[in-house]
Amino acid sequence: MSESVRIVEVGPRDGLQNEPQQVATAVKIELIERLSDAGLRTVEATSFVSPKWVPQMADAAEVLAGLRRRPGVDYPVLVPNLQGLERARAADVAEIAVFTAASDAFNRKNINAGVDESLQRLQPVVAQALEQGLRVRAYVSTVLGCPYQGEVPLSEVVRVVAAMAEMGCYEISLGDTIGVGTPRKARAMLQACIDAVEIGRLAVHFHDTYGQALANTLACLEAGVRVVDASVAGLGGCPYARGASGNLATEDLLYMLEGMGFDTGVDLDALVSTGRWISGVLGRAPASRLGRVAASREERTT
Ligand code: HMG
Ligand code: MG
Repeated sequence: MSESVRIVEVGPRDGLQNEPQQVATAVKIELIERLSDAGLRTVEATSFVSPKWVPQMADAAEVLAGLRRRPGVDYPVLVPNLQGLERARAADVAEIAVFTAASDAFNRKNINAGVDESLQRLQPVVAQALEQGLRVRAYVSTVLGCPYQGEVPLSEVVRVVAAMAEMGCYEISLGDTIGVGTPRKARAMLQACIDAVEIGRLAVHFHDTYGQALANTLACLEAGVRVVDASVAGLGGCPYARGASGNLATEDLLYMLEGMGFDTGVDLDALVSTGRWISGVLGRAPASRLGRVAASREERTT
């Protein structure tokens, strides 16, 4: 039996949250459904953050209410505080994702709180969610650099990752929010985290600003990580991280994983066609290499 890698699809949340044009709720729902139909088992659906901060995600409750939920698929939602948890509970979610960063400067822009204050704020959110029987995932952002303060000490990354694990988050996703990392640095960062939290509880989350996301992912796969976040068609970026581009494109990740013999349960053709569809709806070419290959093949045969 081949070894498996779990892909956490974040396009509907991390991808669309940064979209300047308002995306229709029906399009968001169709995107999530297509992604789960393609075989993805974890599709981050939306976020219950303040609509004043991220207007694009203001329809989170409507998205979940309209969604045809497939059995066996997890649809985590991003939650920043107790108010977000309450809204997520009302929308009948089974899993939330909380988030903070390893750098104060980024956290202040993104969630209006420094690192320590954010950890204090998240403590009751995670505790209540766990009491209510929800699963809680965590993101730690700026693990390879901060758009406002530059270098982020590894010791800070490890401290925050350990704090999220200690709170009871089942998995901690290591976010290179602005995509500045390169493979050796990514691997060294992962190794430092493994010293504090077992590798089975760690995931990687690379943005592709400088074209390093796939290389960084490979470096971390070689170091043993088996959960990778990605965004269909390479959509997205964080609205509070200047210049941050989309995540690693899920299609390109899948092509590499299949080529390396990993099992993912995801259908590549269905994923590529979903990436082309959403890019078309948003009025642009897919950022994924596979989407571009498919488009150029089609041009040659028509
Ligand atoms: P604040 O302004 O300090 O908080 O924001 P507040 O409590 O004063 O609330 C301000 C207003 O928002 C109030 O409304 C609240 O009721 C409302 P008013 O009284 O003025 O009418 N509000 C809410 N409404 C709905 N749902 C809520 C909620 N909370 C407050 N949950 C806060 C603090 C954290 C809320 C805000 O800064 C926020 O929502 N930030 C989220 C920013 C965000 O979503 N960023 C993108 C996600 S992170 C990311 O992309 C990185 C990641 O992908 C990993 C990586 O790449 O590294 C995860
Ligand atoms: Mg992100």
